[in-house]
Amino acid sequence: MVRTIAIASGKGGVGKTSIAVNTAVTLSKMGHRVALLDADFGMANAHIMLDQKVELSLQDLLENDVSVENIICETSSGVKLIPGGSGVIELLNLDSSKRWEIIQSIQPLESQIDYLIVDAPAGGSDASIEFASACGNVVVVLVGEPTSFMDAYSFIKALHLEKDYSRVSVVVNLSNSEHEAAKSFESFKSIVTKFLDIEMNFAGWLPTSKELKNSIISRKPVALSKSPSHRLLNKNFTNITEMLINSKPLTVNGIEFFKV
Ligand SMILES: Nc1ncnc2c1ncn2[C@@H]1O[C@H](COP(=O)(O)OP(=O)(O)OP(=O)(O)O)[C@@H](O)[C@H]1O
Ligand SMILES: [Mg+2]
Repeated sequence: MVRTIAIASGKGGVGKTSIAVNTAVTLSKMGHRVALLDADFGMANAHIMLDQKVELSLQDLLENDVSVENIICETSSGVKLIPGGSGVIELLNLDSSKRWEIIQSIQPLESQIDYLIVDAPAGGSDASIEFASACGNVVVVLVGEPTSFMDAYSFIKALHLEKDYSRVSVVVNLSNSEHEAAKSFESFKSIVTKFLDIEMNFAGWLPTSKELKNSIISRKPVALSKSPSHRLLNKNFTNITEMLINSKPLTVNGIEFFKV
């Protein structure tokens, strides 16, 4: 069975793609077969972080009947990348039948991968809710700011009320310490669980790190680096990845990857 994990947030720019890419690479380093679906259609950028040249994208799958096996990129990191298309206006506003087509189109990968990581678009749009709820685990990336709390809450509320989704994991990014991250998680959890009957798990944290920023500029994910200066950050990514491996997937009601 393929494990499917969405990385979502509500607020944009909080580190979803960085976490999706490095979690996928960490899983791959652990020996798992991993695909990363860049579901930020039209504004996809996971390929940039992986330093991967992209020839075809989901646009070709939707418009020209190209199969997922033909658009997939075997990146040097070991992760199979399903590119979402960048600078493609047509992909920005896909309707739900096109989203359904994309979810169905991934099906042939079932025997080729152990994990599908989905880098979800920011916000509480239908696209982010549908792609997240099609996964057995949803990770919400949070930063310790009221705006992030508000947007993450709105996202979780929509996921719960519209899709009956009942559990999310939270990664706190841009924190000064594990203690501060755990405190942010606890206060967020108390807000969410006051209003919604949803289980919330702390899946780990990341510090504010110039090394992570530089890894994007140099297009080399820190999870691929053996540099001593990346050791601590990689410990955080390993912890997050292990938490996700050990988190039991939900039985999804409705459209789900690999159940079509
Ligand atoms: N822990 C961190 N330390 C320092 N910089 C970070 C960290 N996490 C993310 N960033 C920086 O924040 C910016 C946004 O990161 P990223 O693209 O991963 O976010 P995103 O949530 O995917 O954004 P979008 O919503 O636009 O898709 C990048 O410039 C990245 O370098
Ligand atoms: Mg992103």
